[in-house]
Amino acid sequence: MVFSAAESSRIRAEFPELDVRVGDNPLVYLDTAATSLRPRRAVELESDFALTKTAAVYRGAHTLAAEATEAYDDARATIAGFVGAAPNNLVFTSNATESINLVSLAVQRASAAGGSSRFTLAPGDEIVVTELEHHANLIPWQEVAHATGAVIRVAPITDDGILTVDAVRGVMTDRTRIVALSAVSNVLGIVIPFREIGLAARAAGALVVLDACQAAPHMKLDVTDSGADFVAFSAHKMYGPTGIGALWGTTEALKVMPVVLSGGSMITRVDYESSDYLPAPAKFEPGTPRLTQAIGWAESVRFLDEIGVERSAAHESELGAILYARLAEIDGVTILGTNAGVERVGLVSFTVDGVHPHDVGQFLDSKGVAVRVGHHCAQPLHKRLGIDSSTRISFGVYSTKAEIDVAVEAVAGVRSFFGEGA
Ligand SMILES: Cc1ncc(COP(=O)(O)O)c(C=O)c1O
Repeated sequence: MVFSAAESSRIRAEFPELDVRVGDNPLVYLDTAATSLRPRRAVELESDFALTKTAAVYRGAHTLAAEATEAYDDARATIAGFVGAAPNNLVFTSNATESINLVSLAVQRASAAGGSSRFTLAPGDEIVVTELEHHANLIPWQEVAHATGAVIRVAPITDDGILTVDAVRGVMTDRTRIVALSAVSNVLGIVIPFREIGLAARAAGALVVLDACQAAPHMKLDVTDSGADFVAFSAHKMYGPTGIGALWGTTEALKVMPVVLSGGSMITRVDYESSDYLPAPAKFEPGTPRLTQAIGWAESVRFLDEIGVERSAAHESELGAILYARLAEIDGVTILGTNAGVERVGLVSFTVDGVHPHDVGQFLDSKGVAVRVGHHCAQPLHKRLGIDSSTRISFGVYSTKAEIDVAVEAVAGVRSFFGEGA
């Protein structure tokens, strides 16, 4: 394993939630792709900040306000640096969903205003999504299509769950204006060739929106080399708090993008009829910012950075490969997506013949194993694969091989418990 037993123990000691018991069993937390656990040092720093350093940023003339502003700016720089970005290109939002909506609503606004920019769509223009998108990177584009008369085109995956550059190219036409895709599928765990797809789409003049929710914490991501104009991700999947996420954009895209939310803190001049706006990121962050959340998120990022995101990603992928192989040996278990010829993160979804995923989840929970069940906000993908729902196991920096043993033993017991396959 990438982490020695000693290093794993040190990492796990940072996560108090791992000591929680579920009934009679120790918690085996295998739901990091939904929301990751929080390191103590980040929560403590955030809480200490809230208790002793809270103040209004960018406003007060007093010492605490100046210190809070500096800490907030530092937090943005840390989080931006983690994904290879300049701080001014990173807009704080509530979560990745809101990040994508900021872009999709800007497209609606630009299209309604007319004119021509990369954000302006006309009836018959095309928005390309992929068959494996999370609802967060699908429904906002449906809203754009409804509002503008644009058409959604869907890039197909193979039955094995692979999305190729050619598959995306195959649905692009000279009317393609937007390409929205994931960096990593939250259901299949397969890494998408997002850079190649993004570069091809941008070369064809499309605006590229990358959903990097499952990539930012689980691979070394350089947003400036991602092929995208915009990249969205959420803190709560990166060992950070809920309530904060980010939208990275190229300088050019952020300059042209119209605002959809407006108010205080984003202006240089205000009259009764009109106002002038600050450049990004302030342009897109009206109102009082998410101060303590940014502080907490930055500390989580520092924590991950000290371990090394490449090392933790390699650790998780290794666990994922072991889990994949062991689940594949269990009678009646079908894994979604191939492991041949693809790069995967530490995430495996599967079905169990004759047992509904909710029952699988409850049975696993009775053994202390926390997993995600349902459609994982990817209903169309499940339908494409001929199922309604699945069970998902996902790893984080704190996950261990011993936890795989517990999970696999539990999964192996599901069918007999429910009287199937006897
Ligand atoms: C691939 C992907 N995109 C988008 C989201 C939405 O993230 P959030 O709910 O933090 O906005 C998720 C989280 O489930 C995800 O896994």
